Amino acid sequence: MAIAIPRYIETTISARMIQWTFEGLRTALSVGSMVGFMVFLELLIMFMRPDIVDEDHRVRIVSPEDMLNTYDFVIIGGGSAGGVLANRLSENTDWNVLLLEAGDDEDVISEVPTMFLNIQRTYMDWAFKTEPSTNYCKGMINNQCSWPRGKVLGGSSAINYMLYVRANRKDYDTWRDLGNPGWGYEDILPYFMKAENISIPDLRGSSYHGTEGYLTVETYRYKHPIGSYFMEAIQEMGYNEVDFNGETQTGATYPQGTLRNGLRCSVAKAYLRPVSNRTNLHISTNSMVNKILVNETTKEAYGVEFVRENVRYTVHAKNEVILSAGSIQSPQLLMLSGIGHKEDLEELGIDVILDSPGVGQSLQDHVALGGLTYLIDPPYNPSISTFSAAEQFLMQHEGPLYDAALAEVLGFINTRYSNSSDDYPDIQLYFGSTADNVNRAGIEHGFGVKSDFYESLNADIIDKDSYSIIPQLLRPKSRGYIKLRDNNITSPPMIVPNYFDDPSDLDVLAEGAVVVYNFSQTPTMQKLNARPNPNLIPDCANLTFPSHAYWRCYARFYSLTIYHPTSTCKMGPADDKMAVVDPRLRVRGVEGLRVVDASIMPNVVSGNTNAPVIMIAEKAADLIKEDWKWKEISADSDESSNSTRIHWYEAPNVARDSNSPHMEQRASE
Ligand SMILES: Cc1cc2nc3c(=O)[nH]c(=O)nc-3n(C[C@H](O)[C@H](O)[C@H](O)COP(=O)(O)OP(=O)(O)OC[C@H]3O[C@@H](n4cnc5c(N)ncnc54)[C@H](O)[C@@H]3O)c2cc1C
Ligand SMILES: *[C@@H]1O[C@H](CO)[C@@H](O)[C@H](O)[C@H]1NC(C)=O
Ligand SMILES: *[C@@H]1O[C@H](CO)[C@@H](O)[C@H](O)[C@H]1NC(C)=O
Ligand SMILES: *[C@@H]1O[C@H](CO)[C@@H](O)[C@H](O)[C@H]1NC(C)=O
Ligand SMILES: *[C@@H]1O[C@H](CO)[C@@H](O)[C@H](O)[C@H]1NC(C)=O
Ligand SMILES: *[C@@H]1O[C@H](CO)[C@@H](O)[C@H](O)[C@H]1NC(C)=O
Ligand SMILES: *[C@@H]1O[C@H](CO)[C@@H](O)[C@H](O)[C@H]1NC(C)=O
Ligand SMILES: *[C@@H]1O[C@H](CO)[C@@H](O)[C@H](O)[C@H]1NC(C)=O
Repeated sequence: MAIAIPRYIETTISARMIQWTFEGLRTALSVGSMVGFMVFLELLIMFMRPDIVDEDHRVRIVSPEDMLNTYDFVIIGGGSAGGVLANRLSENTDWNVLLLEAGDDEDVISEVPTMFLNIQRTYMDWAFKTEPSTNYCKGMINNQCSWPRGKVLGGSSAINYMLYVRANRKDYDTWRDLGNPGWGYEDILPYFMKAENISIPDLRGSSYHGTEGYLTVETYRYKHPIGSYFMEAIQEMGYNEVDFNGETQTGATYPQGTLRNGLRCSVAKAYLRPVSNRTNLHISTNSMVNKILVNETTKEAYGVEFVRENVRYTVHAKNEVILSAGSIQSPQLLMLSGIGHKEDLEELGIDVILDSPGVGQSLQDHVALGGLTYLIDPPYNPSISTFSAAEQFLMQHEGPLYDAALAEVLGFINTRYSNSSDDYPDIQLYFGSTADNVNRAGIEHGFGVKSDFYESLNADIIDKDSYSIIPQLLRPKSRGYIKLRDNNITSPPMIVPNYFDDPSDLDVLAEGAVVVYNFSQTPTMQKLNARPNPNLIPDCANLTFPSHAYWRCYARFYSLTIYHPTSTCKMGPADDKMAVVDPRLRVRGVEGLRVVDASIMPNVVSGNTNAPVIMIAEKAADLIKEDWKWKEISADSDESSNSTRIHWYEAPNVARDSNSPHMEQRASE
């Protein structure tokens, strides 16, 4: 079959080459090679999608020779929080800002929404594993849960599922009431709005949404036909269609995503690409920070040490070092720099700068049940990795590669453990048009499911028409921790989430599985002849199906992170000994050092964490500007205008370090 090559391409690059690459893609699909599919898709994107390549706007990386010895602010980690801060702090042309990111620029393949699981465990992912456990992730290889984290500009926002969710207003009011003034819902709502540019027509006029921010928010471009059944059936269960980022969280809708023209809109795309030409902003990739330098006498952070291309550098921070390495690596770096629980550090031979027992503690994560596959009558199978899907993606800019197959619809519901008149749901549901039985490669790759475990659940239902729903616990009571394995930055830290340590977490999740089962019994889902996978987990099979006992057993095998670790450097008042930062996000006991990322959340919020982290960074940027006495001048002369996007700042006191010498280079050991 000949491929219809768009005419503009024939005139610019070899149509022959494209033809060959399409043949490669077809061959990869015929032998079932997902890696082959990705490689050829990537090549075709390079040839055919200049909008994705986006050469003119890609982030410009500072060369080592051009780096300065001293910056006003040094930001560690170019992820969801670090990217926002780099943009907002460099708005002030009198501040020199350095952003250090361990990973590289984003790969074009990461912009394709359905490639979500496949980009895990590539060079863009730290690919952490939890410590083996006998209480959870028992269906995973070596009893370890996979914890992906972005190692790339944009951080986890560049590899995440792009769901745009702000969580529940009560979450923030609780933060405030725990002793964190300025963090109540009314205080932080303006920052959600400042960040956002929503393009969903019905919501552009909403008093909850912003239209002038850097972060574009859209619905996913492709909607699988089963989505409308999901919406019907959830209403039959008594839930309304709602914008859960608006007035009311309880209910369900087609999800909003951090997307632009249907493609991923990471924080790097949103916040860094448009400003990377600023001369006062230096962005250095492949730059792994080893240590934050803190003066032992004055307890002042004065710089960082990092390695780029095997060369070790020291760079000084005149005003502040800002740590935005995420919930796993921010505590790791603090501990390696001598800030943490005294005895733990001493045991590893680390010189203690500050005894801060909360560092790495209070770890919370959203745990869910994977693999809840329901069979239905044909013809509802998704068709993601097909030739025509790729063709549609490349040529028409549409089709199933633009789908959120694991979350066609997103819902927030109440189990009997929550007060249903309170609008404070305790379970989040991801309604997927895809299920394990049609996606073995993705599931084994992404979740690390054991082969025999997979087969026991799916062997006789492979490729049958199906859907799946993931129920996720919104407010876990269990607490885990992050600890150092040794005194070496290259060793991944020990991650111990302690899922289900508090038995009530298991109860709520089991009830979530009951809701998922009941959902299959609604008239609408019965029209599709929905029925649960007849295969049970062998080690739970002697328990009645379906029963709470079965689901509790199930949860310990098919435990799934929804990738929202938080609270490992939590914010809190002075009398909370486990609080690492104060409500202005300054590390307690150290000068010139802040933490700004998911780790500062006092509690995980009741929803996905990317938008909340972006909000945190937007607010932190203003706190920092305030603390350094930069007076904000409105861009608009018209006082009544609601413009939140553009701000100019003037520097009354601080002079720019105009003639900084080039930084010192030191050979690595
Ligand atoms: C697979 C996956 C799916 C997800 N899906 C969603 C979703 O659909 N919706 C949602 O809202 N949230 C989702 N999340 C969660 C959300 O993306 C994260 O909560 C958020 O991105 C965290 O932001 P952060 O700034 O705390 O950390 P990150 O964005 O992870 O940034 C940390 C950055 O620091 C860098 N870094 C770390 N250590 C060092 C060092 N020593 N030196 C230099 N740089 C360093 C890292 O490379 C990284 O770029 C998902 C996360 C993952 C991993
Ligand atoms: C917001 O997005 C719309 C497209 O939906 C675009 O036209 C507009 O320019 C964007 N606004 C800003 C301030 O970037
Ligand atoms: C940055 O500068 C380069 C070179 O001058 C230019 O090609 C590019 O378009 C600029 N990028 C942005 C986002 O303005
Ligand atoms: C730490 O601060 C003290 C007091 O200002 C100063 O004398 C000393 O040189 C500093 N040490 C380092 C390593 O900068
Ligand atoms: C449930 O919530 C409503 C509304 O907030 C409240 O009036 C009621 O007392 C709550 N019921 C219980 C049992 O807590
Ligand atoms: C840290 O670990 C790496 C990889 O195992 C090793 O090459 C390096 O020498 C170690 N560094 C120190 C200081 O021990
Ligand atoms: C599920 O359905 C059963 C039978 O109709 C009902 O008793 C139970 O309350 C339902 N549970 C939930 C959580 O919807
Ligand atoms: C079910 O089987 C498991 C082992 O497969 C066993 O540990 C458990 O006691 C059994 N439970 C019941 C109720 O028989």
